[in-house]
Amino acid sequence: MTDLDAVLGNAGPTGLKERIAAELAAVRERSLAYTDADDDMLVRQHSPLMSPLVWDLAHVGNYEELWVLREVGGIEPLRPEIDHLYDAFKHPRKDRPSLPLLGPAEARKYISGVRGRVLDVLDQVDLAAPDPLRSGGYVFGLVLQHEHQHDETMLATLQLSRRPGLVRDGELPPGRPAAEPEVHIPAGVFTMGTDTVAWAYDNERPAHRIYLPGYWIDRRPVTNAAYLEFVEDGGYRDPRWWLPQGWEWAERNGVEAPLYWTRDGDTWWRVRFGREEPVPPDEPVQHVSWYEADAYARWAGKRLPTEAEWEKACGGRTYPWGEADPGHLGRWANLGHPAARPSPAGAFPDGASPYGVEQLIGDVWEWTDSWFQPYPGYRCFPYEEYSKVFFGETYRVLRGGSWATHPSAVRTTFRNWDYPIRRQIFAGFRCARSEE
Ligand SMILES: [Fe+2]
Repeated sequence: MTDLDAVLGNAGPTGLKERIAAELAAVRERSLAYTDADDDMLVRQHSPLMSPLVWDLAHVGNYEELWVLREVGGIEPLRPEIDHLYDAFKHPRKDRPSLPLLGPAEARKYISGVRGRVLDVLDQVDLAAPDPLRSGGYVFGLVLQHEHQHDETMLATLQLSRRPGLVRDGELPPGRPAAEPEVHIPAGVFTMGTDTVAWAYDNERPAHRIYLPGYWIDRRPVTNAAYLEFVEDGGYRDPRWWLPQGWEWAERNGVEAPLYWTRDGDTWWRVRFGREEPVPPDEPVQHVSWYEADAYARWAGKRLPTEAEWEKACGGRTYPWGEADPGHLGRWANLGHPAARPSPAGAFPDGASPYGVEQLIGDVWEWTDSWFQPYPGYRCFPYEEYSKVFFGETYRVLRGGSWATHPSAVRTTFRNWDYPIRRQIFAGFRCARSEE
């Protein structure tokens, strides 16, 4: 099966164009919903870690213009004077509020103008062309995933703002007790990364064979209840569990629980999109840094899995359950913001991998022990600033997507990365341990 067949299914090029158009409409609806707020909310910087929401909004349109209109459509720049404002490498996030950004109304008008022309390009383009940007609609997959990734960033900004009433909530399936808390993965070779997923990023390629000794991995992500044991056991006050840099970071910042948690007597509360509520014990813990995850694992007598161990536990499929598209709140995973939180442990038995490992996709991004590094034979495509400039020993890899991640922007080979101190992202973890 070629790349193109993989994405086309039996639909043929017209079917693919229809699917792309539908996905473009859906992602834009999402971006507009997250920015359906008063102008003050959109132009204000809610945290130095984040851009103002109006920056993200115009940036996704500008990215779409650069790649679809200029690169593929050969269309002249619509607003060349604004390019530098929305180049993520020209201005750090903390400086973005002082830039002469497009206002909310102007930003909406700009991105809708871009989008109209993008649909014209989609209509004209040959998706079977050998050029890798056109082939299989890669460039559209690029901008779709990019916009969904910014939508998740916007959710993190909305959470940081602590303003109530801006984010939709919903129902999730109930949890289930686990029979065995850990799963054994036998020693052997597996294929990591992909050559065949049509819209995979350069950093997921190429597929390569890796041998791993046998190991144990947690069946489910670490829950709030389990994490609370670490907190109550004085885990944040004992340097034995921490890497020196992590200890120093926690001391300097007075970190003693996950972000958004506060203690009131014997009860732990959290703020979730402006509402205060008791910390639910069965939910995977989120808003912990890599340092906290690493310290918890050491306290528990375990360690974080490497990203290879995480990916092998998925069983060599596009999703742990197979090839079926996850949808939003389907049978398999909590993705695409059906509710504004992770689902309780055990909520998706049908989403288990062939090894029986659960909730690998959706709920919370999972920190791994691995630095973000290129795979052997990595080739940069289509530009260096997506992955290449981030490789090295600065960023830790996260896997699996969160409840806020759209189904189109995650799969078992998908790699995310961030600084080990970051906590505003929807990240938790699971533990692993080597065979005795
Ligand atoms: Fe971006």
